[in-house]
Amino acid sequence: MKIVVLNGSPKGKLSISKKYVEFLQKKNGNTEFEYLDIGFNILKLEKNREYFDSVMKKIKDSDCVIWCTPVYYFMVPGQLKRFIELIYERNTQEVFKDKYAFSLTTSIHFYDTQTVEYLEAVSHDLDMNYFGDFTAHMNDFFKEKNRKELTGFFDTFKNSFENKIKFHKTSIVLNENKISYTPSKKDTEAVLNKNILIIADDLSQKDNLYNMIEKFETSIKNKITVLDLSQINIAGGCTGCLRCGYSNKCIYNDDVKKVYDDYIKKSDVILYALHIKDRYASSRFKYFQDRTFFNGHCPPFINKKIGYIFSGNYRYCPWIKQNLRAFCEYTESYLFGTISDECSSSEEIDILIDSLIKSMISATNNDCSKPVSFLGKSSHLIFRDFIYSHKSIFRADFKYYKNNKLFDFPHKDIKTRFFNFMMGMAFSIKKMREKIAPRFKNFMLKPYEKVMEKE
Ligand SMILES: Cc1cc2nc3c(=O)[nH]c(=O)nc-3n(C[C@H](O)[C@H](O)[C@H](O)COP(=O)(O)O)c2cc1C
Repeated sequence: MKIVVLNGSPKGKLSISKKYVEFLQKKNGNTEFEYLDIGFNILKLEKNREYFDSVMKKIKDSDCVIWCTPVYYFMVPGQLKRFIELIYERNTQEVFKDKYAFSLTTSIHFYDTQTVEYLEAVSHDLDMNYFGDFTAHMNDFFKEKNRKELTGFFDTFKNSFENKIKFHKTSIVLNENKISYTPSKKDTEAVLNKNILIIADDLSQKDNLYNMIEKFETSIKNKITVLDLSQINIAGGCTGCLRCGYSNKCIYNDDVKKVYDDYIKKSDVILYALHIKDRYASSRFKYFQDRTFFNGHCPPFINKKIGYIFSGNYRYCPWIKQNLRAFCEYTESYLFGTISDECSSSEEIDILIDSLIKSMISATNNDCSKPVSFLGKSSHLIFRDFIYSHKSIFRADFKYYKNNKLFDFPHKDIKTRFFNFMMGMAFSIKKMREKIAPRFKNFMLKPYEKVMEKE
């Protein structure tokens, strides 16, 4: 059995994710592993066609592929995303056909699920026989139980390969037929006296996204700032060096920080305009997003109103929808709308843009906000615990969390502790328990009624 390991980590041989596969190699002497540091070598893969072709040949000559990658901002790192785009741009999908595959991610479990769902869909698009995923925490390696789980997972994978087990391809096949959008001409009516910023991944072609942005801009009387990520200097993808953790300073000295300080921080409304390529937003956007790691977990988006315009198969990527929601919830911003050009006519797109503008104005004028759901709440808990236990590395985050009272561990809530102590005492007496229990429902509703009376 010959396995190719596509390592998406920009850290290359210093990657934690790769260690997990090296462990599997150690335990499986008769299996051949070939490591390809895709994330680390992405520039070479882009610029040197011979090298890219040699990588494709190695994949073609293998039996199985492991997508081995860290999770970066809900997804694979920009570098791995770019590699997947290159497969399509260079028409080399064929080499992946019928290969057995699985994904192995390491992370702190913040949206690793979305990452593996993406990789599953990509594998289905490439006509691979996708076995499943192993979503490890970056520290799982240190526990024998987790290492055992990993070898067990791999044994089952090997068994599936040897027995030629076929896996159901559950991803809906992508729609390649798109209409070409021609915007209607209409007098401008809408006004919103706020700073509106559009961040687009690429407006160099006069395509649907370009036309949608033009339509959006010309439908509002205010001046809108448009930032085209293909025109700004992004020196490279995040290298995962973590040096920003101490003081929020990135090793790169390019335009990314400037975008934050001069545009994002000063805006009230941000509209992202993005191309969907394969099953996610373009790698250009992903590079930019990964690089925002220098901000740490101190959100610069609080109270901003955020919208999205997509061009491409947005509907076929449910993980994007969930990522947007999670992003807005944990950054305390407000998602006012999302549209795409997956429509049957230009008029339909016109209506969607018009409605998006109305939603934006209404959300901004009413200063809308929303409570967090499971997505936002779980994000907070993961970051809170992670930052607390890594305060030496993520010093800037630690300070921010401390100053903003975000270390809200339950044991710090004196009132609740006192309540539980008193109730615990009362409940330990059978007679008291029998007296209180039938009144639980009334008891729980009392504080709500008190608030209602005051309103
Ligand atoms: C830029 C950046 C973004 C990250 N985003 C996430 C994330 O969204 N979710 C998560 O659980 N971990 C995230 N992490 C943590 C990494 O996934 C984790 O440290 C991983 O184990 C690194 O693996 P590697 O050494 O193979 O690159 C991020 C790390 C970096 C540097």
